[in-house]
Amino acid sequence: RVSATLRDIRLGTAVLVDNLQKNVDGGKYIANIKKNYQWVVAEVGMKPKQIWIGENKYNWATGDWLIGSPSNPIGWIQQNGLQLRGHNLLWPGNNFMPTWLLQQESSITPDKAKSLLEDYITTVVTRYRGKIAGWDVVNEAIDDYDSSRPFNLRDSFWFRKLGRDFIKYAFIFAHNADPNVELFYNEYGIERTSLKANRTLELVNWLKSEGVTVHGVGMQWHIDVSKTVTPGDSYYQNAQRFIDQGFDILVTELDISVPMRNGKPINPADIQKQGVLYRSVLQYALHFHPKCHGLLTWGFTDRYSWIPSFSNNTKGDALPLDASYVPKPGYFQMQEEL
Ligand code: XIL
Repeated sequence: RVSATLRDIRLGTAVLVDNLQKNVDGGKYIANIKKNYQWVVAEVGMKPKQIWIGENKYNWATGDWLIGSPSNPIGWIQQNGLQLRGHNLLWPGNNFMPTWLLQQESSITPDKAKSLLEDYITTVVTRYRGKIAGWDVVNEAIDDYDSSRPFNLRDSFWFRKLGRDFIKYAFIFAHNADPNVELFYNEYGIERTSLKANRTLELVNWLKSEGVTVHGVGMQWHIDVSKTVTPGDSYYQNAQRFIDQGFDILVTELDISVPMRNGKPINPADIQKQGVLYRSVLQYALHFHPKCHGLLTWGFTDRYSWIPSFSNNTKGDALPLDASYVPKPGYFQMQEEL
């Protein structure tokens, strides 16, 4: 944290609010966050599926605890001198949608869908206005494969109701509710030049051409240890073209997984490689800084990471601290780079 602050780059991590509230692991969870990061994002709890529990019904538990509520404006974030990123206002993937909304799909007209969207985004952004460093307005809206839909948008509730305009509306409603907050489009698998990265660039260029405020693009960076990141390569070229076309970038969810068997890395040397790669991604972030606003990892200790369950235990050990909070090569490599 001190080194990053001196370099003027923001480092952050996703956190589990439950772990903060329970002060787990003898205080080590919280202590490591405060020691290493300026920036925090809720891994769960501030997504539509958790907040939006019915029409005009909201569950504010996580957000209010973190950043305060109208009646009690100081939350854990302010108490600890941190900043919060908002993640996310809209996640169109079917599994990530509020179930009640999907269940009512057949009776919801396009006009009704638009007004529901406006209610939700306006209510959330207004509640935390002035307290959030930036919002991921739309998360993972683009398909991995080519489709007939504009920008290869996924087939989703929002697309079926409003076509591609749902993205435009989401950004407009967010900007109207808090004209000062930074607004990002966040996506996975767009770190290098690729079809999906092309479509993403086309999408944000379209938004801009419609006069919509989009500050930048969050690139998630869920990668594995087989990758290399080197100045001038397609990771760098891709970042540069987004920046050249007027969009800031952000590493929003970095983790670097290694192949696992029986809870252990198949190749122990992968942990060294992972260390070098953590440094390479930080070098990349520093290279594009300040157009690259910073770097957040998706968790910080292998004790709490989404990778094992997501990969059916074939991948893991993806973060800079091990499961006992002992720094791994990735931690020291980043520290040296700063
Ligand atoms: C994941 C969380 O880590 C899991 O705990 C949860 O079950 C599902 O969401 N891309 C994103 C994040 O934008 O919100 C996802 O987080 C990981 C992939």
